[in-house]
Amino acid sequence: MSNSRIAVCPGSFDPVTFGHTDIIHRASKLFDKVIVLVSVNAVKNPSFTTVERVQLINKVLDSLQLDNVVVDIWDGLLADYVKQVGAVAIIKGLRAVSDFEYEFQMALANKILYDGAETVFLTTSAENMYLSSSVVKQIASFGGDISHFVPGCILRDITERLVPKEIQKN
Ligand code: PNS
Repeated sequence: MSNSRIAVCPGSFDPVTFGHTDIIHRASKLFDKVIVLVSVNAVKNPSFTTVERVQLINKVLDSLQLDNVVVDIWDGLLADYVKQVGAVAIIKGLRAVSDFEYEFQMALANKILYDGAETVFLTTSAENMYLSSSVVKQIASFGGDISHFVPGCILRDITERLVPKEIQKN
């Protein structure tokens, strides 16, 4: 068995935001390898395809130059993936108390499905408390400025997809 400590950072990433990159960056300092896992959230209807979301994350990772972070796709149970790759941790970012109940439930369920990994919660940075992919999508859909919320290298991709053509600025 390899000694490297792998963490999986799962999510919808629809699209990736500064909230995600903050958690990924901090996780990369705690573990030997971090796998950003684009997974299926059964209750969400994504705006970007899985492949598009991976492309956006890869662009962002290129700009961050984090040597120990990779991206993968999984459409099954998170616990099965974690077991398969031998990860020791599932990393989740916690914003407000409102996240807690849902995340706690998932952590307990994942622990029952596979007890070889721990869910590790990282508190979100204060400036990202309010930030979510849904907020970004909503602001973009009205043509608002999302440059405070998503990395500059993917701003154009997100704008082209989410801002209605008639209100897109060049
Ligand atoms: O960014 P999200 O939408 O909050 O991420 C939720 C996600 C995708 C991590 C969660 O829905 C998930 O783990 N999906 C994979 C399927 C699974 O294992 N579901 C049961 C979790 S207890």
